[in-house]
Amino acid sequence: MNSVLRSVAKVCAAQGVHLLGVLDGYEGLIDGRFEPLTAAEAPFTPRADLELAGGIGGTVLGSARSKRFLTGEGRAKALRALSGVDGLIVVGGNGSLTGAHALATEHGVRVIGIPASIDNDIGCTATALGVDTALNTIVEACDKVSDTARAHKRAFVVEVMGRQCGYLAMASAVAAGADGVLFREQDRTEGELVEALAQVIRRAYAVPNKRRVLIIKAEGVEVPCTKLVREVEERLEADRLGIGVRAVVLGHLVRGGRPSFQDRMVAGRFGMAAVMALLGGQTDQMVGWGGTSGGGAKTQDPMVRLFPLSRVLEETQAMIDGSSPVTRWRVEMLRQLEGVLPL
Ligand code: F6P
Repeated sequence: MNSVLRSVAKVCAAQGVHLLGVLDGYEGLIDGRFEPLTAAEAPFTPRADLELAGGIGGTVLGSARSKRFLTGEGRAKALRALSGVDGLIVVGGNGSLTGAHALATEHGVRVIGIPASIDNDIGCTATALGVDTALNTIVEACDKVSDTARAHKRAFVVEVMGRQCGYLAMASAVAAGADGVLFREQDRTEGELVEALAQVIRRAYAVPNKRRVLIIKAEGVEVPCTKLVREVEERLEADRLGIGVRAVVLGHLVRGGRPSFQDRMVAGRFGMAAVMALLGGQTDQMVGWGGTSGGGAKTQDPMVRLFPLSRVLEETQAMIDGSSPVTRWRVEMLRQLEGVLPL
């Protein structure tokens, strides 16, 4: 998120625009808590600390899950705080973009959204800010867990965030060379999950000299990791393989860290496209990554398209309820990989 602040501030400066940052998301917007991110007058120089901030994780503006913004009263207060502001850029996930759409449609605020969520559950974009950094962190953590797994000849179940979306689990399983992957979209019962895990472990240890088994579990699979591991160990006891199974929950660790090259690059380009869209008179849209394949309107950047927020929110909902072709494709790919991962 800091990378995109830096980018937006630079583009605003170049375009002769004064930029304010809103502290703590919609909470700060309701209370009118703003901080200048560029000088107020020409040449509108970006605030000096953004140069460094652009390379660190999190957001210097702070973030919040605002309950007050869900109410009409809260949004009306936010509107009053926006008086004198020509346009708003909202950086965030489903909740933030839903709020952006409400401000545009209910109150005529000129707003452009930038997708940012490690979960990669936002419609109309191949990636969102934070996804690549989170995946790099997960893969590094899995490599480290694999070291200890091989030393002790153990199986590990590593749980990763992602809310209701299994993308982080699916993508990191492929990149970390995992033996199996569990995610909500597979729609498995607890019994089926335990049996699937036991099968992966039995099959993996049938391979001569294999000493590590790595299974990635998405947090959207509601059975707690420790419970799953206990039940699998019980099931495997009869096999007398002498295999220990351990659980690691990576949790919020995955949401921090220095942004990867890809996240910084995408942030730079999203920031530019978002400012130019606002200055070009666009509103109630989101910038999406992925070129022409997913539709949307052209921008100056061949990889960035503009999508109406209403469509983004519809596709996001479809990704959550499983009806989106993107979700179906992901599930089908992983189903085909089930026979491949344990090799
Ligand atoms: O949406 C990002 C996310 O990190 C999810 O992956 C996770 O379920 C959730 O946020 C955690 O939220 P909180 O930080 O409020 O516990």
